[in-house]
Amino acid sequence: TTASRPVVLIAEKLAPSTLDVFGDEFEVRQVDGTDRPALLAAVAGADALLVRSATKVDAEVFAASDRLKVVARAGVGLDNVEVPAATERGVLVVNAPTSNIVSAAEHAVALLLAVARRVPAADQSLRGGEWKRSSFGGVEIQHKTVGVVGLGKIGQLFAQRLAAFNTKIVAYDPYVSAARAAQLGIELLSLDELLRRADIISVHLPKTAETKGLIGAEQLKQTKPGVIIVNAARGGLIDEDALADAIRSGHVGGAGIDVFVTEPTTASPLFELPNVVVTPHLGASTAEAQDRAGTDVARSVQLALRGEFVPDA
Ligand code: MLT
Repeated sequence: TTASRPVVLIAEKLAPSTLDVFGDEFEVRQVDGTDRPALLAAVAGADALLVRSATKVDAEVFAASDRLKVVARAGVGLDNVEVPAATERGVLVVNAPTSNIVSAAEHAVALLLAVARRVPAADQSLRGGEWKRSSFGGVEIQHKTVGVVGLGKIGQLFAQRLAAFNTKIVAYDPYVSAARAAQLGIELLSLDELLRRADIISVHLPKTAETKGLIGAEQLKQTKPGVIIVNAARGGLIDEDALADAIRSGHVGGAGIDVFVTEPTTASPLFELPNVVVTPHLGASTAEAQDRAGTDVARSVQLALRGEFVPDA
């Protein structure tokens, strides 16, 4: 028969395995989700829309759609999807909440080690023709107190990995009980206490009204001199300008930052500072995580378009 198949619109680069899930049950179309007019034109006629983090799926997109049933975010956060607008139109929103948690935790570890041992600066110097061993002294992770801010799935994976470095792990998370933290071998503290005690602070939080700017100038003032700060979660959890000031003053020893208030960006006060290691939101960018994110959401989309129950991932 020539009965038309449901249309799946892919608006960002997803792992090839995503397409394998769809097979020929659906018609797959591609569009560049950052090209707004193209996206709005393509979403008309689409039954499902798949995005990563660059496509803004807002009321305008829903208004331009005529038969959209499901929006899928191939990742953890739903920052770029206006969920209330979807709900209002009866559009289901799915994500892949566990697809990239290990990758995110591993990237936080990578940033921490890169800062502690000054890997990028030393690399740049050596490639530039210098052999300057005395310029790149570092610090050990062993015996340090590591403060994990946000002890959810990613925070726990980060803590577990840091524990192998023979550290003391403390955490702040108002939604985790002290008993559960104790089971994990982690001492639960107030944020103020964590700031005062930690030699290393890594944030693992979603960005919400509650967490935005959680660590600002006042909080940074409370930290230990020389503290290393890592953010591979969301831009704006730590105030970027306040962090830059605290590094410039020498109070904060260094920072590893993967996420920024505005993304994409090529300008941040942090980019000019020597003790900072930055990456362009790469926490989820591994072959394994992208594979999982793509196939997890593709399976949910498949179920949704078949009219079947979509279980929580
Ligand atoms: C996430 O929310 O899963 C990550 O920020 C995703 C990504 O980089 O695609």
